[in-house]
Amino acid sequence: MILCVNVDHVATVRQARLGTDPDPVMAATLAILGGADGITVHLREDRRHINDRDLEMLKRFVPVELNLEMAATDEMVRIAVRTMPDLVTLVPEKRQELTTEGGLNLGTAGKNLRKAIRTLKAKGIMTSLFINPSEDDVDSSKDMGADMVEIHTGNYANARGDVQERELVKVMKAVQRAVSLGLKANAGHGLNYYNVLRIAESDSIRGLYIGHSIISRAVLVGMECAVSEMKNLVLRS
Ligand code: PXP
Repeated sequence: MILCVNVDHVATVRQARLGTDPDPVMAATLAILGGADGITVHLREDRRHINDRDLEMLKRFVPVELNLEMAATDEMVRIAVRTMPDLVTLVPEKRQELTTEGGLNLGTAGKNLRKAIRTLKAKGIMTSLFINPSEDDVDSSKDMGADMVEIHTGNYANARGDVQERELVKVMKAVQRAVSLGLKANAGHGLNYYNVLRIAESDSIRGLYIGHSIISRAVLVGMECAVSEMKNLVLRS
């Protein structure tokens, strides 16, 4: 199983001052040194964190899988074709949301998704659909010509007890369905250092796509070192 690290929230911190630090490209390099098998960024229509320059730099410097998450719009498809990431994951996108709230609605978005998949595939870019843990949605993804699906683990991640067990079963059923249809199955959203183990037990999942918990942990485990470096400067020691 591979681990792909989403560095969007490094850019979220940078955008708090509209400056250059911290740089998500540098963070991606360190993530790769830590063992990341892939780097993910979500280029949003409003560019609230990752921007076009980040994507261009990542394409030049990331030697592992570069996964571009994006909405199935003409603008984003044009950018993907120009940049040529290894993988495009099509996601639903709403301006007001804090993060991607759910899987794609394959019914209403179907026409745009099919068009985007056709164009991306013609250029040789692998395409994944971010879908809810539903076997029907896996079937539709296959029908639309996707190479992979990413099963949304948000409900599993946020639930507890019996409800979490039921959500886990839904995720695993969707994964099995995908594999049986010849689709590669990924999973992601809301996974953290506590809930990832049950998902990581599966031999059928190709990759896990994780962002917020890793960036949050990086802030905390790096705090002591960052303060002590500044303290040395303040004390001129
Ligand atoms: N997969 C997809 C499709 C996402 O949109 C996100 C969030 O950007 C993730 C995975 C990662 O989710 P999290 O930041 O909760 O780990």
